[in-house]
Amino acid sequence: MFSPKEIEYFNKIKTPFYYYNIDRLKDILTRVKNASERFGFVVHYAMKANANDRLLAIIREFGFGADCVSGNEVQKAIDMGFSPNEIAFAGVGKSDDEINLGIDNNIFSFNCESTQEIEVIDEFAAKKGKVARIALRINPNVKANTHHYITTGLEENKFGINRWEFDKVLELLRNKKNVKLVGIHFHIGSQITDFDAFKSLCIRVNEVQNYFIENQILLEHINVGGGLGIDYEHPDNLDVPDFDAFFKLFDRFLELRPKQKLHFELGRAMVAQCGDLITRVLFVKNGINTNFAIVDAGMTELIRPALYQAYHKIENITSKLGIDFYDVVGPICESSDTFGKTVQMAETKRGDLIAIRSTGAYGEVMASQYNLRNLAKSYYSEDI
Ligand code: LLP
Repeated sequence: MFSPKEIEYFNKIKTPFYYYNIDRLKDILTRVKNASERFGFVVHYAMKANANDRLLAIIREFGFGADCVSGNEVQKAIDMGFSPNEIAFAGVGKSDDEINLGIDNNIFSFNCESTQEIEVIDEFAAKKGKVARIALRINPNVKANTHHYITTGLEENKFGINRWEFDKVLELLRNKKNVKLVGIHFHIGSQITDFDAFKSLCIRVNEVQNYFIENQILLEHINVGGGLGIDYEHPDNLDVPDFDAFFKLFDRFLELRPKQKLHFELGRAMVAQCGDLITRVLFVKNGINTNFAIVDAGMTELIRPALYQAYHKIENITSKLGIDFYDVVGPICESSDTFGKTVQMAETKRGDLIAIRSTGAYGEVMASQYNLRNLAKSYYSEDI
C-alpha cells in the first residue's frame, strides 16, 4: 500500500527503481531483535539478500552480525562497521584471496564445506602465525520443501560436509594447529514456510551434536543458517513470518549444551517486505487470450520470476479503473522475462505505475546489465 505522497514522489523519478520503506524495515528488525533476544539467540544478517548501504547501516545499528558468502561481502561488512568477530563466512568455493582476507580480519568463523578447505585455511593461517576459527558446515540431509534451486541441505546438493566424512574431519583436525573448531553450521534452503522442516533440522542437529560429544568435543556455537520464508501473497502483512514462533521452535527442539550459543543467518525474512520494484507501463497490447502490460523493468532488475518461477504480487498503483487481467512482461528479449501471468489488476494504460511487491530480498543484489541496461537506482521513504 502506498500513500498519495509516495505516488506523487514516484511520478517524479525515472523508472524502474527500487523503493525501500525504512519504517517497515525498522519494524521488521525490531520484531527479529525482540524475538531472538528473548531466547538469547544471535542473528547474523545474510548480506546476500540485500547489500544496499542504507539498509546495511540500519541493520548494523540494530546490532545484528553479518553472514557473508564472498570476500567482497566480508569487506563490505567490515566497511559498514560490522565487527569482524560477528562475521560468519560461508561458501563452497572460497578463493585464496578470500581466505586470506578472513584470516587477516580474525572473523568469527569460516564455515567450511570440505576437508580440503580446512587444510588450505590451516596452511594460510600457519603462514601468518594465526589460528583461524572454523565451523563445519554440515549437510543435514533434511528436505526443505521449497523450490529445488534454493534447496541446499540434501546429500545431492553441493553444500556442506556429509556424515560419512565426519571421522575423517576429526582426524584431520587433530593434526591441524592453525584452525580452531568453534562450531557446526547448517542451512537447509530458503523461502521455507513449513516449520516442520526446521523441526527436522533441530532433530538432526541434536544427532550431529551427540556425535561430537561422544568424541569429547564441546562446540562454542551451533549455527542453523537462515531460510525463514515470507508471505509473498500479502506484502503488507508483517505478522508473517512469526519470528516468535520460529525462535521458540528452536528453543524447544534443539538441545543446546551449557554455554553453547545458537546462531541464525536470516536474509529474506529481514528485508524482503521493505522493498518494492516500481516500474512504468510502456505499452499495452492484446494477445490471444490475455492482454500484455509491457513495463520498463525486466528480468535484469528482478530475476526471481524468470529463474525460480517465483510469485510476486503485482499492483497497478495509479489506475482507479475496474479490474482486468494482464500478463505483466518486461522489455528483455527472452520469453522468461515475465513478472506474472494473468495478473488481476486495475485496468492498465501506458504511463501507469506498477509496483512489484516484496522485492527487498534477492532483487537489487541479483540485478544484471544484460542487454546493456542501466542498473536501477534506489530510493528511500526517509527522503520523501
Ligand atoms: N545462510 C546460508 C548459508 C545461505 O546459503 C543462505 C541463502 C542464507 C543463510 C540466507 O537465507 P534466507 O534467510 O535469505 O532464506 N536467490 C534466492 C535465494 C537464495 C538463497 C541462498 N542462500 C531467491 O531469490 O529466492
